[in-house]
Order: sequence, then C-alpha cells, then structure tokens
Amino acid sequence: MTAVGGDFRLSGASCFVGFLVKTPPPGCVASVADEGTGVTIKIIGTGVGQPKCVVSNDEFAAVTGLETSDEWIRTRTGIETRRICTDETLTELSTAAARQALGNAKLGADQMDYLIGATIGGDKRTPALACMVAEQLKVECPAVDLNGGCVGFMYALSYAEALIAAGRAHNVLIVCAEKMSAHMNFLDRSTSVLFGDGAAAVVVTQGESLEYIRLGTVPDSHAISMPNRMMGNNPWAVGEETEPILTMDGQKVFKFAVQTVQEEVTRALDTMHLTPNDIDLYLLHQANGRIIDSVIQHLGIDPDKFPRIIQKYGNMSSVSVPTLLHELIQQGQIKSGQRLLLCAFGAGLTYGTCVITWE
Ligand code: UT7
Repeated sequence: MTAVGGDFRLSGASCFVGFLVKTPPPGCVASVADEGTGVTIKIIGTGVGQPKCVVSNDEFAAVTGLETSDEWIRTRTGIETRRICTDETLTELSTAAARQALGNAKLGADQMDYLIGATIGGDKRTPALACMVAEQLKVECPAVDLNGGCVGFMYALSYAEALIAAGRAHNVLIVCAEKMSAHMNFLDRSTSVLFGDGAAAVVVTQGESLEYIRLGTVPDSHAISMPNRMMGNNPWAVGEETEPILTMDGQKVFKFAVQTVQEEVTRALDTMHLTPNDIDLYLLHQANGRIIDSVIQHLGIDPDKFPRIIQKYGNMSSVSVPTLLHELIQQGQIKSGQRLLLCAFGAGLTYGTCVITWE
C-alpha cells in the first residue's frame, strides 16, 4: 500500500486497511526456512545514535500535574531512565548510527545498494528519513521508510532478505529511529513515562544467518494510535481536527504482547525443531519488564537468556531490539555460532519473530 500518510500515523496505512477489510489473523507470513530459496542474510555491522539528555523517573515525578512516581514507573514497567532529544534531530542520530554500523561492517556507504528506514515519523513528513540519511552519507541508492511501529526492525530485515534473495541488492543498510518524545502528551502519565528516543542501524549482506522470520498483524487500529493532522486550513474539510498525539490502551496491548510472544516463540521453536534451550539469547521488544517476566514464567525458560535494556532506555519502539543487539555485541555476549531469537510487537497490532544463528 502506497501513501505519504494514512489516517493514523502510528498503526500504518496498510494495517488500517487490513482492519477495514477484516483480514483474518494471523495475517502475512514470511519464513525463510520454508521458502527454501537457498539465499538468506547475515548482519555484519551494528551501531547506535543516542540523545545526550538522560531523564530519570524522579524528573517525571517532579512535573506539575503528571502525578507519577519513581516507585510506580520502576515496579510497573522496569524503566529507570530514558533518553530524550533536546536539540538532536533524528537525521543526526540515524546518521551516527549508520556510520558506526558501516564502520563495524568495514564497508563504505557507497557499497550500500538499498537504505531502509524504520520509523513512525522522521524529521520531515516527506522526504523519508532514509533519504535524509542518504543525503548525509552522500549515497544515491534507493532509500525508503517503512512504518512497522515497534516491529519496524523485523519488517526491515524481512524486506532486506527479500531484496537480497531476489538479487536486487548485495548490501542493505537498515536504520531504525524514533523521536517518541515528539508524539507524547507530557501530561499523560499513562504514556509519557514509557517511551524514549534513539536510533540504531545494521548492515545486512548475503549470508546464512537468518533462518526463520515470521511477520503478522492482528488488525486493531485503536489499541496504539496516533492520528495525522488531516485537515489543516482546508476550507472544504468537515469534522474536527485531531491532535497528532500517541494514545494507548495499555492493558489491551499488554495482554496481546504476552500472548503473542508466547505463541510466536513456541511456533518458531516448533517450526525449526528446536527446544527453548537451543536458543542462546531471546531478544524481546523492550516495552515493559513485566511482559518479559510473564513470557519467561509461561514458557519456563532460563531468565538469564532474556537480556534487558528497558531500565536504561524505556520503550524506543523499532529501535529497542537493534539497540539491544548492538549492546550485546559490544559487550562480547554474542559469539559466532550462537542462536538468537528476536521477537517484537506493537501498533497495528503487528508482531514479528526471527531466528538468527550468528556468523
Ligand atoms: O511498544 C508498544 C507496545 N506497548 C506495550 O507493550 C505497553 C503494554 N502495556 C503496559 O506496559 C502497561 O499496561 C502500562 C505500563 C501501560 C500500564 O501499566 P498497568 O499495570 O497496566 O496499569 P493500568 O493502566 O492498569 O493502571 C493502573 C493504575 C491506574 O490508576 P487507578 O485507575 O487504579 O487509580 C492508572 O491511572 O495506575 C495508574 N497509572 C499511573 N500511576 C502513576 C498509570 N500510569 C501511571 C503512572 N504513574 N505513570
């Protein structure tokens, strides 16, 4: 589906149409393991770009009218701090992340055949954030954004795999970037304390690392939603202008997340004939520590296999999983031959799971 902006900025235009035509769940599926093309991908470089400003829970608690506390945020979400943009643009953060990923991959920007941005909103409505980054990197390859909410990284990996398998690209640069602070009502305690800003990038090339990927949507355009400003000063428009602010039915999303992650982890393991112990690390979307706790409890898997960064960064939407991946690599916790399971969920409601054997 092609659109510069759907009715809702968060939820994606295609998800909303899926809702209208009542596409039956579980929606679209892409499984490298099943397709048997013989071509798949590997990640050869990662990087991050982060705002300077670190905001603690106590600083939120000090905001007049917000009525929150460090104790509530810490115990209900696991979040202690998050980073929030002051003067940084997403283009700057994304370009820094891209340069670090390219450096780690030992490739130049001019060796990229495609640039995919994953974001719910770049610095400009148009052009795409990917084009803004391409301008900074001085590359002329195709550059486009996708809006997969918190699952954006998984969608971008899937598209990169398809491009490489089809012979249309050798190297793909993926940049996930979110300025969640730009979409918040900072007097709404049910959302403002949860999110953080940042960018993360990966360089992908042909390899044998990605063994399984499955994407899906359980269409629901209200559970997490952020409308576009649709009327402006159009004198012929009728109705009320909507504020482009993020709202979320937290409990509904919580239940969706716990159930979906359990089902999708089990499905991935069954499809690949693996046991939970065959996975070395589970990299789950960092939305709430209690979602991760619940998944661990229900699946009975060793908690040490579930690394977390939510305490430092809050929920960075599409940026959370690639940032976690980057930090684990930097800390030497991911080694060649290890098997990783990545799983994310978010607006749409979308989900995505992949299994990677690290090369
Ligand atoms: O990345 C996209 C995916 N997003 C998610 O996965 C988010 C999933 N949902 C969640 O993580 C949780 O539902 C939340 C963190 C959003 C909310 O936690 P909860 O335990 O579900 O709280 P609740 O919404 O049931 O609210 C419980 C109480 C309410 O007060 P009353 O009505 O019981 O008096 C809220 O008003 O907690 C109150 N509350 C707060 N209190 C202090 C909600 N937010 C806050 C706050 N500080 N920040």
